[in-house]
Amino acid sequence: MSKEEDFRKYIKKVYRLTALFSGLFIIAGGILVIYSVNPDFFNFRKESTTPVYVAIEEDEDTIENGIHVRTGLVDAEGLMTVVNNCTNCHSAKLVIQNRMNEERWNATIKWMQETQNLWDLGNNQSIIVNYLVTNYPPPELGRRANLSDIDWYELKD
Ligand code: HEC
Repeated sequence: MSKEEDFRKYIKKVYRLTALFSGLFIIAGGILVIYSVNPDFFNFRKESTTPVYVAIEEDEDTIENGIHVRTGLVDAEGLMTVVNNCTNCHSAKLVIQNRMNEERWNATIKWMQETQNLWDLGNNQSIIVNYLVTNYPPPELGRRANLSDIDWYELKD
């Protein structure tokens, strides 16, 4: 091998190394610049630093087949007034199973106000009583309705 050839190889080596290092230097410099602009850039796990709270929407007042699911009350005018005022202390069942007329409802409400700490219902009282009388009317008393569609049979002796 001639000296000249050796020298050429040496120069080539130096050249390659220089190229390699300047390449690395540029890459490192680039990374440094990106990092200083946006430190989050290399956070590949992408853990958000600001927690995101997703509100879990649970509808407490779902209506299914005309029934307020949570309380079992019929969906009609005044429903939410009844739900908000009459299901806090006892179940709505206690309300539903008592079928009264307007007068007796007002008396029951008065009794609860006097003895059970029920609050003053203001204008809501008529809305509530109206809802109850309309949707849970007292059972009809008196003569039963006429029978219809009856197959009479003949009495034999
Ligand atoms: C502050 C609490 C409270 C609220 C609000 C409340 N009640 Fe009551 N209610 C009671 C208590 C206590 C009783 C007695 C329960 C028992 O006897 O076990 C009662 C009993 C009843 C009874 C049964 C009465 C009887 O003669 O046995 C009915 C019907 C009733 N409530 C309807 C309602 C209606 C309608 C509303 C809404 C206007 C309402 N309640 C709101 C406390 C409340």
